[in-house]
Amino acid sequence: MCGIVGYVGPRGSAAVLLGGLGRLEYRGYDSAGIAVISDTLDLRKRAGKLVALRDELESNPIVDGHTGIGHTRWATHGAPNDVNAHPHLADGGKLALIHNGIIENFAELKAELLAEGVEFLSETDSEVAAHLVAREYRECGNLTEALRRVVSRLHGAFTLLVVHEDAPNVVVGARRNSPLVIGLGEGENFLGSDVAAFIEYTRNALAIGQDQLVTITPTSVDVIDFDGNPVTPEPFEVTWDASAAEKGGWSSFMAKEISEEPQAVADTLRGRLVDGRVELSDLNPALLSGIDRVVIIGCGTAAYAGMVGKYAIEQWARIPVDVELSHEFRYRDPVVNDRTLVVSVSQSGETMDTLMAVKYAGEVGCRTLSICNTQGATIPRESDGVIYTHAGPEVAVASTKAFLAQVTALYLLGLAIAQENGNISDTVLADMVRDLAATPDQLKTVIEHSERIETMAKWMADTRAVLLLGRHVGYPVALEGALKLKELAYIHAEGFAAGELKHGPIALIEPGQIVFVIVPSPRDPNSLNAKVVSNIQEIRARGARVIAIAEQGDAGVLPYADEVIPIPLANPLIEPMLAVVPLHIFAMELASAKGLDVDQPRNLAKSVTVE
Ligand code: G6P
Repeated sequence: MCGIVGYVGPRGSAAVLLGGLGRLEYRGYDSAGIAVISDTLDLRKRAGKLVALRDELESNPIVDGHTGIGHTRWATHGAPNDVNAHPHLADGGKLALIHNGIIENFAELKAELLAEGVEFLSETDSEVAAHLVAREYRECGNLTEALRRVVSRLHGAFTLLVVHEDAPNVVVGARRNSPLVIGLGEGENFLGSDVAAFIEYTRNALAIGQDQLVTITPTSVDVIDFDGNPVTPEPFEVTWDASAAEKGGWSSFMAKEISEEPQAVADTLRGRLVDGRVELSDLNPALLSGIDRVVIIGCGTAAYAGMVGKYAIEQWARIPVDVELSHEFRYRDPVVNDRTLVVSVSQSGETMDTLMAVKYAGEVGCRTLSICNTQGATIPRESDGVIYTHAGPEVAVASTKAFLAQVTALYLLGLAIAQENGNISDTVLADMVRDLAATPDQLKTVIEHSERIETMAKWMADTRAVLLLGRHVGYPVALEGALKLKELAYIHAEGFAAGELKHGPIALIEPGQIVFVIVPSPRDPNSLNAKVVSNIQEIRARGARVIAIAEQGDAGVLPYADEVIPIPLANPLIEPMLAVVPLHIFAMELASAKGLDVDQPRNLAKSVTVE
């Protein structure tokens, strides 16, 4: 939520900032702005997507310089207009500040400044911070010290970057519970909400901890804590390059990222399946030893990945697994202890609800493990252990390939726990390892046979409501499919457990109602296939238009479905990974057929860094 970039070095900073904002735009796209220092500080900002700022810079060029900050906004305080866009100015236009987060006590601070005669231009909480830093800077003459004095007065979550005309070649940043990473260049340095901000120029990065400040010049990086004590930041190297965060020849990032789903699974498995067993070399085995309960937390798609994981982990490791939305877990006094493993699932590693839940879990004595796709992110840093997913950068706001990678990582975790507690037989383990290894190729097959889905989406472009039914691991797939349709196509879509049909949802069925049904394999040991086929008959009898996602060759379903999307024969626990792909494609195609922006749906942001 809100993308932030800062630069000092020999390059023209406007181009660096705009490039960074382009790669961070998924974090918010209500408005964008940059401030650049040449001899004086100059600023341009515009409501709307980044293209509006680019147009403004074209018609009203900025005097370029070598120091600057840029921001792309997801509005919290104040409407998404030109005035509320960041950066915000203070000190007679000599100081510029950008902010990601929410300053909870801004009203009280604003009252204090108003009493001193400070004039506010915007309705934002962020402008308060700009005026506070300006006041301290006038007093102490040092931008880092000025920001340090201010952060101790702020409540809430923030990443702040500040530049001042009287301190050229300096960008100062601070963070508390919002993201900020440093990019190290030769004779230049960068700051960004994540590494995408500067990936075009460097893959060498430093992670900054909570409650720390950073000061960059072209040749130096200094980090201190909020008390002023020096801190050594943790270096890491980004494993992907700039091309991975570009659209390439694809019509959208989402289309590209769905095409990368097989690779996301393959890369997440790489090096972790060894001789028919799972090896998580990056994890301290003590973390899994003696646990008697797992609680998986996440939001949105990540929570649905967690629901799939629950079925598998319980089946293999025979320990209870609960899945909870992070914000619900955090505020309900859960019964947990030091044998509870709290597994957070987050693509960005920055989702505030999940971060707060992880911190809480640590405070009440749980062990914490992060499943995360972003190096240097806050949640893995706040956790006792991490299993990185290797889906590569995910830019489209609605998550796709990360979901597949998250399920993969949860399966690896489940098998690792089962190996540790001895509740899985060697045969089941070896079979599962073999089936996981085969998944990327099966996913490729699903994607290669997806033309029919595009045609279906075109004839359904006017659809106002879609229902989805699934059972067992197909249930979270139904929920994930419904979420994608809401996010992308702005239609009412709801997923149900198929067994629940007769307890209410069947009342929604009227002639022509489109219902996607995720059909368990006829080879499923629980014989759920027959029950779901009965459900199909029940809704068909009431006029539903049924689109079944079923195993290739499942003849039982054919007479009752209007359309069948076949998926390859697979282990029942691999089926959700295969069945979700047509739903991702369908949501994307339906949104495209309706002429909507699939990468940047309205009102959303990819990384939700406020509670
Ligand atoms: C937002 C995004 C979703 C994502 C969720 C969790 O709501 O729109 O696509 O699933 O955040 O994000 P995370 O980064 O924690 O996986």
